[in-house]
Amino acid sequence: VEETYIMVKPDGVQRGLVGEMISRFEKKGFKLTGLKLFQCPQELAEEHYKDLKSKSFFPKLISYITSGPVVCMAWEGVGVVASARKLIGATNPLQAEPGTIRGDLAVQTGRNVIHGSDSPDNGKREIVIPFLCNKNILSVYDYSRFLICLLLALSF
Ligand code: GTP
Ligand code: MG
Repeated sequence: VEETYIMVKPDGVQRGLVGEMISRFEKKGFKLTGLKLFQCPQELAEEHYKDLKSKSFFPKLISYITSGPVVCMAWEGVGVVASARKLIGATNPLQAEPGTIRGDLAVQTGRNVIHGSDSPDNGKREIVIPFLCNKNILSVYDYSRFLICLLLALSF
C-alpha cells in the first residue's frame, strides 16, 4: 500500500491546528501509521528539502522548519500521495483553493502550515528522517550500562 509523509510545520503546531489537519486525513479515509512530535535539527531539515538547496529561499525555509516543533506523520492508503497533495492545496496559500488545508488555514508561502510528499519515492525517503534522529539512542546507551551493571552484580 502507498504511504506518504505529512509534516505539520512549526506555525501549524503553534497555532493549534494539528487536530484539524489530522481530522481531514482521517475523514478522507486514510490510515495514520506513524506519528512523532519532533524538533527538527538543521541537518535533517536540509536533508528533507535537499532538492531545493539551490533556491534563494532555502536558508529561510530551513530556519522556518527548525523554528519550533513539527508533527511528523506517515499516512497510508490507495493513492494517498497525490490525494494528500490535493487536500493540502497549492504551495502559495493565496492560490490554494478554499476547502484545502492551505486554502483555509494559511496566507503566506513561507508559512504554509503543512508539508506533503510529492511522489511515492520521496514519501519513502522522507518518512524515515524524523525516525532516524531518535532519543532512543540514549536508551540504547542506558540499556548497555544496565546490562554491564547486571553482569557485574551477577559476577559477585
Ligand atoms: P512542501 O509540501 O513543503 O514540500 O511544499 P510544496 O511541495 O508545495 O512546495 P516546494 O516543495 O516547492 O517548496 C517547499 C516549501 O518551501 C514550501 O512549502 C514553502 O514553505 C517553501 N517555499 C517554496 N517557495 C518559496 C518561496 O518562494 N519563498 C519562501 N519564503 N518559501 C518558499
Ligand atoms: Mg515539496
